[in-house]
Amino acid sequence: MGYEVLTGPEVEEEKYNFEMMNLPKDHPARDMQDTFYLTNDILMRTQTSPMQARTLEKHDFSQGPLKMISPGIVYRRDTDDPTHSHQFHQVEGLVIDEHITMADLKGTLITMTHEIFGDKFDIRLRPSYFPFTEPSVEVDVTCFNCMGKGCDVCKHTGWIEVLGAGMVHPNVLKMAGVDPDVYGGFAFGLGPDRFAMLQYGVTDIRDFYLNDVRFLNQFDKRSN
Ligand code: DAH
Repeated sequence: MGYEVLTGPEVEEEKYNFEMMNLPKDHPARDMQDTFYLTNDILMRTQTSPMQARTLEKHDFSQGPLKMISPGIVYRRDTDDPTHSHQFHQVEGLVIDEHITMADLKGTLITMTHEIFGDKFDIRLRPSYFPFTEPSVEVDVTCFNCMGKGCDVCKHTGWIEVLGAGMVHPNVLKMAGVDPDVYGGFAFGLGPDRFAMLQYGVTDIRDFYLNDVRFLNQFDKRSN
């Protein structure tokens, strides 16, 4: 679909991780992401969203629209337990051009869902809040275990939450030097560890980074 795949630094400036994502100092939403600070201005990135600011800042719109995804590891000051980890993966997506609408976001998410899971899977959007998008949504996919009927995996809703998304907030564009009266678009962020846990029945997220070969061998195509 013409997306560039870009990676960014895990040791990140506070400016990109928070400030330029429309989270000024003392913004209460900073509490949503407990942070490992290395100095006052340098931190372990809590999300791949800073890659939005970094790419927006550099993109030359006279050369065409901006379409990128950015996979990588993020860090949170969480106490490790079977469902929480101080490190996990995210994939950020960003599309900016003239005349991009929420219908484009929905169409993209539907296409992505069909490619990853298959045509029988549907999505639904629920209103939500993220500081860097307005409006913001949380996106659910048909539960792979019961195909929507309702089961223990989906807590009897028929849906599993897989990502956050929304229309990029004008402040994010402005701070990166892009004119929000001309350009706009959508962003999304998904957590592949959760996908993998659900899909393979992994019950402890810590197994992903302990490098126990007995665990890893199960996913080695050569031994299957
Ligand atoms: N950065 C968010 C988080 O870590 C996820 C996210 C939500 C990314 C909405 C986005 C977005 O790009 O539009 O919780």
